[in-house]
Amino acid sequence: MEVKKLLHQEWGAGEIWTGIVALDHQAISPSWNDQAWREMADANQHYQLFYCSGVELAVEGFTLWRKVEGDSVAHLLKIAVAHPLQRQGRGQLLIGSSIKLLKGGATSCYLEVQQDNLGAIALYHKCGFSQLHQIRGFYPEGGNALVMGMDL
Ligand SMILES: CC(C)(COP(=O)(O)OP(=O)(O)OC[C@H]1O[C@@H](n2cnc3c(N)ncnc32)[C@H](O)[C@@H]1OP(=O)(O)O)[C@@H](O)C(=O)NCCC(=O)NCCS
Repeated sequence: MEVKKLLHQEWGAGEIWTGIVALDHQAISPSWNDQAWREMADANQHYQLFYCSGVELAVEGFTLWRKVEGDSVAHLLKIAVAHPLQRQGRGQLLIGSSIKLLKGGATSCYLEVQQDNLGAIALYHKCGFSQLHQIRGFYPEGGNALVMGMDL
């Protein structure tokens, strides 16, 4: 399994882009609507997308980071792995590989995760993140978030 970075000129169209947006809709709640993805594609210099492909699925998993040029902090915004392929190491690989590719300039990273998303929280701990804070009512439907971070 190889993790690749989606080049910025490939954002907004094409098989990989479509696969990422479709996987977001399938796996992440709340997912972004098409307009949110389009706006991000337009401002894509601040974002980095990484994905892994397979024989049957163009996008088996992806992770989206926000990293502004010159900032030392990277923000993990999203990660998803197609349901039938979960618990086979792709999530850990996506995080580990994307962090290596992000490292230039980033000395720390953080994320928010729904407090009841125990699978994702376990993954983040396994990848080296620790819990920093809790934010009550962070999500639109009122759920609490954990903020997790790690030094790179
Ligand atoms: C969270 C997610 C990305 C994990 O991807 P994955 O490919 O299944 O993760 P991995 O196989 O690399 O798991 C690595 C470790 O994380 C932990 N883990 C992952 N999923 C877990 C689960 N459902 N329950 C408990 N621990 C879990 C385990 O320690 C696992 O190691 P193990 O399988 O040897 O026990 C995947 O479940 C997913 O896409 N979920 C829906 C989207 C989502 O919630 N994203 C996070 C918020 S944006």
